[in-house]
Amino acid sequence: MAQIIDGKKISAQVKAEVAKEVEALSQKGISVGLAVVIVGNNPASRVYVNNKKKACAVCGIQSYEYALPEDTTEQQLLELVDQLNHDPKVNGILVQLPVPPQIDDHKIIAAIAPEKDVDAFTEGNVGKIMIGEYNLLPCTPAGCLDLIDSTGVSIEGKNCVVIGRSNIVGKPMAMLLLHRNGTVTICHSRTRNLREICAQADILVAAVGKAGFVTADMVKEGAVVIDVGMNRNAEGKLCGDVDFAAVEKKAGYITPVPGGVGPMTIATLMRNTVTAAKEQNGLLLYS
Ligand code: GUN
Repeated sequence: MAQIIDGKKISAQVKAEVAKEVEALSQKGISVGLAVVIVGNNPASRVYVNNKKKACAVCGIQSYEYALPEDTTEQQLLELVDQLNHDPKVNGILVQLPVPPQIDDHKIIAAIAPEKDVDAFTEGNVGKIMIGEYNLLPCTPAGCLDLIDSTGVSIEGKNCVVIGRSNIVGKPMAMLLLHRNGTVTICHSRTRNLREICAQADILVAAVGKAGFVTADMVKEGAVVIDVGMNRNAEGKLCGDVDFAAVEKKAGYITPVPGGVGPMTIATLMRNTVTAAKEQNGLLLYS
C-alpha cells in the first residue's frame, strides 16, 4: 500500500517559510504584492483565483484582484497588463488561464514584464529554465518536485516518465527532473507503447487531463506517482488522472486529488512572488 504524499501539509510548510520572508522584507520597509487577473466566468478558474488570494493572505502578501468580464478585448487586457507592469505595488502578475477565445494568450503572456512573471511563462523565463539558471520557478512542476523530495526518494539516475507535454506542466517538469539527473521520458497522445514505458517509471508524473487515465498496469511496483490532473468524474467529483484506488495498492508513494499537487502550485506561486519582490529591490544575489 502506497504512502500518501500530503500536499496540504507540505504546502503549509512552504507558505510558513514564505510568510517569514515577507515579514523580514516588511522590516526593511518592503511590501510584497501580487496582481491576480481573471477574465470571464470559468468556474474552475474562479476557485483557483480564490485559493491564490487566500494563500496571499496567509503569507502576508497583498493581493490585488482584477476580475474582467467575459467579453473583454485583447487590447483591454494588454492595457491592464501594461498598467500592472508599471505599478510599483505589484511585484508579481498572474493572468489566470484559460482566457476567453477572443484573446490570444501568447500575446498576453509576452506582454508581462519578465521580472513580474511569477508563473514563469514568458519566453525569457522559459529559456532560463531550459538552461537551468532561474529564480522564478515553474509553479506546478516545482511543486511536484517538492512532493517527490518529501518522499526521500532520490531522482538521480531514475527512470522518470512525464505524461503530457504542455508548456505549463509537461515540458518544464521534464526539465526540472533532467536538472536533477533523472533519465526523463515525455509521453503524449501519440506515444506508442505508453503502458510499457510508464510501467518502467520509478517516478511517474501524470498531467493528461483525463480522469482515471493511469491504471495499475501502467505503474511499477513501489513507484512514486504524482497526479497533476484536476478532473470531474461522471458523478461530478473532483479526481486526478490516476485511478487512485487501484494504483494506491501498487505504488510506493502517491499524491491524492484534491490535496496533492494543487496546493503546491499555489505555494510555489507565493515563493515566486517573494523572489520577484527581492529581485526588484536588489536583494537577490544573481538574476
Ligand atoms: N491555469 C491553470 N494552471 C495555471 C497556472 O499555473 N497559472 C495560470 N496563470 N493559469 C493557470
